[in-house]
Amino acid sequence: MRLDGKMAIVTGGASGFGAGIAEKFAAEGARVLVADLNLSGAQEIASRIGGFAFETNVADRSSVAALAAFAETEFGGVPDILVNNAGVTHLPTSLEDVSEDDFDKVLAVNVKSVYLTARAFVPGMKARGSGAICNIASTAGVSPRPRLSWYNASKGWMITATKAMAVELAPSGIRVNAVNPVAGETPLLKSFMGEDTPEVRVKFLSTIPIGRFSQPSDIANAACYLCSDEASMVTGVAMEVDGGRCI
Ligand SMILES: NC(=O)c1ccc[n+]([C@@H]2O[C@H](COP(=O)([O-])OP(=O)(O)OC[C@H]3O[C@@H](n4cnc5c(N)ncnc54)[C@H](O)[C@@H]3O)[C@@H](O)[C@H]2O)c1
Repeated sequence: MRLDGKMAIVTGGASGFGAGIAEKFAAEGARVLVADLNLSGAQEIASRIGGFAFETNVADRSSVAALAAFAETEFGGVPDILVNNAGVTHLPTSLEDVSEDDFDKVLAVNVKSVYLTARAFVPGMKARGSGAICNIASTAGVSPRPRLSWYNASKGWMITATKAMAVELAPSGIRVNAVNPVAGETPLLKSFMGEDTPEVRVKFLSTIPIGRFSQPSDIANAACYLCSDEASMVTGVAMEVDGGRCI
């Protein structure tokens, strides 16, 4: 029970890594609020783990404000833990061919959301003098693959935001870390690969020394450590969970 008594919000918790994080956190004793655009998916995970669900668009200021209000009135107050996990990508394309709509969406969901959730939750964490924020970035932000350029750049931004937030918020008792997953077995994987064929899988796997894709449990275990009191001296870290891909 490494998160016993903690309140955690997990964005994008209805699917993939976020669902794995919500399940792990609940198993470790946390009370979990799953915040996702997909309300029925969020409710399904929440009912499985005895948590809460709230329909949220992390790219929209009023929606994030509504999430904060729900947390305050229904969930129990300011969360101890915030996991910024919701994310999207454009399909693999030459960088000059990504549409402006797709570019704006990637930046809104992967980048602006971190700002919006900070505005919603950091003041309460500061007032309490504690908090742990975990941003789910990507190896894409460290070692970019071609044809995913604007997605890669959004995750590079997230890693720098993690460090900037960590250094500014440390005196307030708030730790901010990131996890950089390598390609993982989630519904999003097909979008990174373009097409899910044995040939494309072999190509991706050939760049991962440990020889497998990441699983939601791999990312959840790292996020659990970073958000737990065991990591009380750890802040500003962007931890690769990548089977050696970034070596
Ligand atoms: N799967 C991978 O290969 C991989 C690798 C590295 C990093 N990541 C990152 O991990 C995170 C989770 O990815 P995943 O693979 O689990 O994806 P996923 O598609 O399985 O899940 C993403 C979840 O986010 C939700 N979501 C999307 N836009 C949202 C919005 N605007 N507001 C609220 N919720 C929204 C979706 O409804 C979905 O439930 C993302 O940030 C992604 O960039 C994924």
